[in-house]
Amino acid sequence: MTRIALVGCGAMGEIVARSVYAGPDAPTLVAAVDPDLGRAARVAAVTGAAPFATLAEALRVTGATAADVRVPHHLHAEVVLEALKAGCHVLVEKPLATSLPEARRMVEAAVDSGLVLAVAENYPHLRAVLDARAALDAGEVGDVLAILSTRAYRVDGVWIRDGWRRGEGPSSGVLLDQGTHQVSLIRHLSGPVEVVTAHPAGGRASDAVVLTLRMTSGGIATSLLTWSSPGPAVQTEATVVGTGGRLDVVVDYGGTGGACRLWTPDGSESRGAENYYDSHRLVVDDWLRAIRVGGEAVVPGREGFDDLAVVLAAVDSLERDGAPVAVERA
Ligand SMILES: NC(=O)c1ccc[n+]([C@@H]2O[C@H](COP(=O)([O-])OP(=O)(O)OC[C@H]3O[C@@H](n4cnc5c(N)ncnc54)[C@H](O)[C@@H]3O)[C@@H](O)[C@H]2O)c1
Repeated sequence: MTRIALVGCGAMGEIVARSVYAGPDAPTLVAAVDPDLGRAARVAAVTGAAPFATLAEALRVTGATAADVRVPHHLHAEVVLEALKAGCHVLVEKPLATSLPEARRMVEAAVDSGLVLAVAENYPHLRAVLDARAALDAGEVGDVLAILSTRAYRVDGVWIRDGWRRGEGPSSGVLLDQGTHQVSLIRHLSGPVEVVTAHPAGGRASDAVVLTLRMTSGGIATSLLTWSSPGPAVQTEATVVGTGGRLDVVVDYGGTGGACRLWTPDGSESRGAENYYDSHRLVVDDWLRAIRVGGEAVVPGREGFDDLAVVLAAVDSLERDGAPVAVERA
């Protein structure tokens, strides 16, 4: 049985605690870690774990063998490297890190120690994305002309409570926060990305950005990322336009309307019915499966590295007035 420490009991840590680590069939959470002991105690109360202010103390007292890391972006590398060094398997939130040298160190540390490093990237676990990939493989929309993706909503409430998301620090900005989600989605539909350009949309690039991605296959995608626009609970996050039809990847943050919707001149069809937040449990279950069988997670560290490399190339492009930037490889 894997004994897990949840590291970071803020907004996301609490969501995961309630939706994944609470209840009779839940994975075994032994420690809830946060320097804000009130937050650690809240997670402890719903999961039965013990609260701690530091990971080191939690490991010493509980003997946890795995760490589920949900801290702000710029702390991912430090906490993940500490956990790996202590012999823990790690699941870490997206983006893997805030720089490629850090991300490379994390991937190498996991490989060297033989421990599982998984990234909590949701899209590769969504039924709608898997169904879309299968439809593309089966040629159901013909040759792909382009992918259009959108992630548009307002960031508010608990998500801006601690200030780091919309501040000026190393964890801030919509690109770093949401970029790896959309890149992961596009890469699943269209393969590796070769070159990126990025432009601010509206006033602040940290709030709204348009990306153009050129794939190694020659394919092309655009992506609008913004948290300055009110978003409905059900969103079409990617549309693949092909010579024989088109498909939408629909994501539902409220009900169970998430689906792959397919349209061809012969008719239309909707496949799947899911809620986005169900993917948090799928992510954790997949990580635990990889630990159990000694294999790789669906999103291993190097996939997180590749998503981050595209996002950091976009950051570079923004700083260079939209110049095309080649994406670094792992
Ligand atoms: N996959 C998703 O759908 C999704 C959604 C939201 C957030 N996230 C990710 O979750 C992570 C956390 O975001 P959030 O909104 O919960 O942030 P948050 O600020 O609400 O919570 C972060 C918590 O980490 C704690 N912390 C800081 N340093 C720590 C340390 N050394 N050890 C333990 N705890 C520490 C803070 O006190 C805080 O309570 C980010 O990486 C974010 O991108 C993912």
